[in-house]
Amino acid sequence: MSLLDISGEEFRNLITRAIELKAMVRAGTIYEPLKNKTLAMVFEKSSTRTRVSFETGMVQFGGSAIFLSPRDTQLGRGEPVEDSARVLSRMVDVIMVRTYAHETLELFATHSRVPVINGLSDLFHPCQLLADMQTYFEHRGDIGGKTVAWIGDGNNMCHSYINAAHLLGFKLRIASPAGYQPRPHLIQAKQAGIELFEDPAEAARNADLVVTDVWASMGQEDENHQRSLAFRNYQVDSRLMALAAPNAVFMHCLPAHRGEEVSADVIDGSQSVVWDEAENRLHAQKALLEFLLT
Ligand code: CP
Ligand code: NVA
Repeated sequence: MSLLDISGEEFRNLITRAIELKAMVRAGTIYEPLKNKTLAMVFEKSSTRTRVSFETGMVQFGGSAIFLSPRDTQLGRGEPVEDSARVLSRMVDVIMVRTYAHETLELFATHSRVPVINGLSDLFHPCQLLADMQTYFEHRGDIGGKTVAWIGDGNNMCHSYINAAHLLGFKLRIASPAGYQPRPHLIQAKQAGIELFEDPAEAARNADLVVTDVWASMGQEDENHQRSLAFRNYQVDSRLMALAAPNAVFMHCLPAHRGEEVSADVIDGSQSVVWDEAENRLHAQKALLEFLLT
């Protein structure tokens, strides 16, 4: 449901394993630990990366994946979440769910006999953090003790960065406009390494990793105008990146809006690792599937 379901040690092990699995794919090694296993993927919201990475991961592991959307399942016609969870989990071996309300995901998991993976909810996006952290480790080594600047909305991604900071021991500086800060109760008690700012420049100063995300997440489309006003000074551009550490990297979970939360020269520039980050969804989630099922 969230990164806090694993320990810091398990998180580091998943990253190590993801890096190994990636090397195996590159070497053409066939490794099929999930032969005859099935993943069901329930999407209440759109997806490109999450769907393709999970589906490809299952194929590479010798299993298969079923894409389910409310538009063409009984979920969309009002079959209760509990009943859907009971039925699906009697047939498949693992289920990934992308929802609006986090409570829907929890309800689903409560009634499932098999592991349920959070493929993004309004509250968290833990799978993206597996990929982001793998990417940081590959480019710069262990993130423990480093400084991460989160610029923008205190959203599901920001909440998962808060959890990752707790588990992996990095400092997190969050710059958000008033009214768009992360939910305070999601910051762990005694989590000293988290600082909240309004000024993006203060958060970015000497950061080792600069991260941002869209100003309006899925489900917030009708707030677009008001959000673009609130966030107009929160673009990650080359001026902001210049304040970060000289070898800082830039990440964005994608999809991105060039000219809004990030300038084109930053996302397409030399400090950006967004394409590795996107690819690593595949490898990190394979590590997660292997961890949960074998
Ligand atoms: N980053 C991410 O989760 O992308 P999708 O919405 O395309 O799955
Ligand atoms: N915060 C974004 C992430 C998309 C992957 C959203 O929830 O829409």
